[in-house]
Amino acid sequence: MKRLMLSPLLFALAPLSALAAPIAMEDQSQIKAPPASSHVGEYFQPPSESELPDNAYGKMVRQGYALFVDTKRLAPQYVGNGLNCSNCHLDQGRLANSAPLWGAYPMYPAYRKKNDKVNTYAERLQGCFQFSMNGGKPPAADSPEITALSVYAYWLASKAPIGVEQPGRGYPDVVQPAKGFDIKRGAKVYQEQCAVCHGADGQGQKVGQDYVMPPLWGKDSYNWGAGMHRVNTAASFIKHNMPLGKPGSLSDEQAWDVAAYVNKHERPQDPRLIDGSIEKTREKFHANDGINFYGQKVDGVLVGQGIK
Ligand code: HEC
Ligand code: HEC
Repeated sequence: MKRLMLSPLLFALAPLSALAAPIAMEDQSQIKAPPASSHVGEYFQPPSESELPDNAYGKMVRQGYALFVDTKRLAPQYVGNGLNCSNCHLDQGRLANSAPLWGAYPMYPAYRKKNDKVNTYAERLQGCFQFSMNGGKPPAADSPEITALSVYAYWLASKAPIGVEQPGRGYPDVVQPAKGFDIKRGAKVYQEQCAVCHGADGQGQKVGQDYVMPPLWGKDSYNWGAGMHRVNTAASFIKHNMPLGKPGSLSDEQAWDVAAYVNKHERPQDPRLIDGSIEKTREKFHANDGINFYGQKVDGVLVGQGIK
């Protein structure tokens, strides 16, 4: 009798064994964004606050919103730098070409090369806490923080189709100029167009304890494991979003130059540091992660030493 029971089970398992063979694992979260659209009307429109229902769900959306724009103050135990989520996802996570939440939420679960597994939306958020927010141990997947942030994103994505790449998702790629990029030119762009807000030394600006202009490098910035540490990703963010109020005003070359200048500076260590070795960490996590300076020498100085 036992045998008879087993055989259908084996039969059912057979197709699974096919999974042991190599399968395609292209990174679905490393966004191949379509080119930026020039007309606002072409982008998905998230609901407005006035459409929020006055009930438990609406209340949770508001909590998620508050956490997103005021992360450092409301979740200090999970934030190890001076940033809020909305510093890199502009207009409260609504803005097209600024990795809007309505473009992200419907695209998960998705395989990510970064941690080599299929990530739920909650796991994607945990990654943001760990790297962009330099937060150490991230909130648990079922924590009030991750729940509220997920509910907020779900609401912004109301009526968006599931699993369909929306124009305006992520930070659309800015192709590296044929002549490459130049850190010295980037320093000039920085002093002329960025320092007025972000400080001559990238330190941002504070009023009391709180940053009113976020830091771009140093101990209170994103760490060496964050996506923004890639020059290509920072160039894309900067081209489409900076200088604040003048998006799209820099040439592609200027965006790359200034992104390189910003990302050659020290910032908190990559939390995945292997055996205290920058070289091992570079090989495993940075060698194939876009264009970045981690573990390389710039002007004779080893980059990636971290800063506390
Ligand atoms: C220092 C800038 C920065 C901060 C701060 C930041 N992020 Fe991100 N975020 C990024 C970058 C860069 C990406 C990757 C975008 C890409 O690959 O094009 C990203 C991706 C995401 C995605 C996936 C987007 C998609 O379309 O798949 C989500 C969701 C997200 N962030 C949420 C958050 C949340 C929530 C916080 C706060 C806890 C946060 N981020 C803080 C820079 C930041
Ligand atoms: C008018 C002030 C202003 C100018 C000028 C400006 N920024 Fe920003 N920048 C901001 C603010 C404010 C934010 C956060 C946005 C938010 O929270 O809504 C920001 C966010 C950023 C971020 C992501 C957050 C972080 O701290 O890493 C980067 C990177 C950045 N700016 C780079 C630049 C670069 C490069 C330039 C020059 C080309 C520049 N900015 C010019 C005000 C400015």
